[in-house]
Amino acid sequence: MQQMDNPGGENQYGDHETQEALTFDRVQGMPYLQMVVKEGLRMHPATGLPMWRDVPEGSTLGLNAWIAHRNTSIFGQDAARFQPERWDPEVTPKSELARMEGYYIPFGAGTRTCIGKNISIMEICKLIPMLVQRYDFEIVPSPPSKPGKGGSQLVTNNLWFVKPMNVSVRVRRARKTFGDAKPS
Ligand code: HEM
Repeated sequence: MQQMDNPGGENQYGDHETQEALTFDRVQGMPYLQMVVKEGLRMHPATGLPMWRDVPEGSTLGLNAWIAHRNTSIFGQDAARFQPERWDPEVTPKSELARMEGYYIPFGAGTRTCIGKNISIMEICKLIPMLVQRYDFEIVPSPPSKPGKGGSQLVTNNLWFVKPMNVSVRVRRARKTFGDAKPS
């Protein structure tokens, strides 16, 4: 992230020493971070069930983001791949970006869209770079829950919010490799 958003290497992820928080203005000027967050919510939408709408003839209709976001006719043959660059206006033509936006529904769509969308995006964009700056994260491989399951395969549980199961992460305070920070 640092390399793409700040090739000069100056520390713009908040001050490590003073714990200065990032402002929303600053994170909006980090295009690669924005693409990573967007792609993260495409690949792993927080909700795994749609809020349905009543449609005429007594039917209900809902579109599951997990299905919409993997539609290869919209997102391409690599729809199942984490590829933040697909959101880059210098990589993907405007018309394709518009088509992708139309199928991008981590917060739903229309008149009943999520009212917490903007505050959630602000929290994600501020918190993630600060966590990555201050801590090193390492996935600890877990033993398979069943033969052929677990290990390197992500198992999730869908209870409207989709939770990863059995994922262990080792967290250490980061060695200070960002910009002007000194090694500890
Ligand atoms: C990453 C965080 C969040 C995600 C991914 C999320 C996702 C969603 C989704 C997919 C819907 C259904 C929208 C639709 O059917 O069109 C929804 C609805 C809703 N969300 Fe969120 N949400 C998040 C955070 C929040 C927060 C922080 C709040 C409250 C401050 C909130 C309040 C609501 C409410 C009240 C609705 C129902 C809106 C309605 O039916 O009119 N959400 N959310």
